Amino acid sequence: MASEPIFIPDNFVAYSKEQMHVPAHYDEDIKSIIIPSGTISDRVEKLTKDIFDDYHDKNLHFLCVLKGGFQFFTDINHFYKRFQRNNYQVSNPFSFDFARVSSYHNTSSTGNVKISMTEDLKNIEGKDVLIIEDIVDTGNSMVEFMKELKQYNPSSVEVASLLVKRTSLSNGFKPKYAGFSVPNEFVVGYGMDVNEKLRDIDHLCIISDKGKEKYSN
Ligand code: IMP
Ligand code: MG
Repeated sequence: MASEPIFIPDNFVAYSKEQMHVPAHYDEDIKSIIIPSGTISDRVEKLTKDIFDDYHDKNLHFLCVLKGGFQFFTDINHFYKRFQRNNYQVSNPFSFDFARVSSYHNTSSTGNVKISMTEDLKNIEGKDVLIIEDIVDTGNSMVEFMKELKQYNPSSVEVASLLVKRTSLSNGFKPKYAGFSVPNEFVVGYGMDVNEKLRDIDHLCIISDKGKEKYSN
């Protein structure tokens, strides 16, 4: 059973850089910390338990969306194996693969999504596919990706996303498993980037104006 995402309110009085450690080389790029890494870890453990309860007797195939989803998948992989080890119920083995899904947003074409895989998509036939994504914004990437995957006859396709952004541009898509509902701000860290920078921070952070200026193309 999936649990409701933790709601991070708009204008959330987040933790300051004086209260949580961020790498010195990123100090001026970060405005504040909205979800500390310890809280992310506790929430990912619970999401993984929800997933384990639903999938332990299924033919689970994780599909990690790179690059942003890599940290989330790393932690899910760790916790899932721990539940397998510690649970007295018999559980089936799982498999996994990686995908790149890039969406292009401009005024004339939203929902134009490019997909590339590390393995042949024919491998998902008959499997219970669980897409592992960092953040759902408009929802276009996930809707398009699921549409593509369904052509290869998996038994089921669902999405686990660490974050769901509250935006008026949402197409209404809701992932089955969601960690946190976050305000409409640009977030970085825990695998998420701004033009390939700031992925390597453990906390989830809001970027500063200085950081936006420095890293925007
Ligand atoms: P969507 O298709 O609009 O839902 O876009 C989702 C994708 O956009 C995510 O997989 C991220 O790669 C990227 N994205 C959206 N919002 C953010 C953010 O705040 N920080 C980092 N990446 C983001
Ligand atoms: Mg992504």
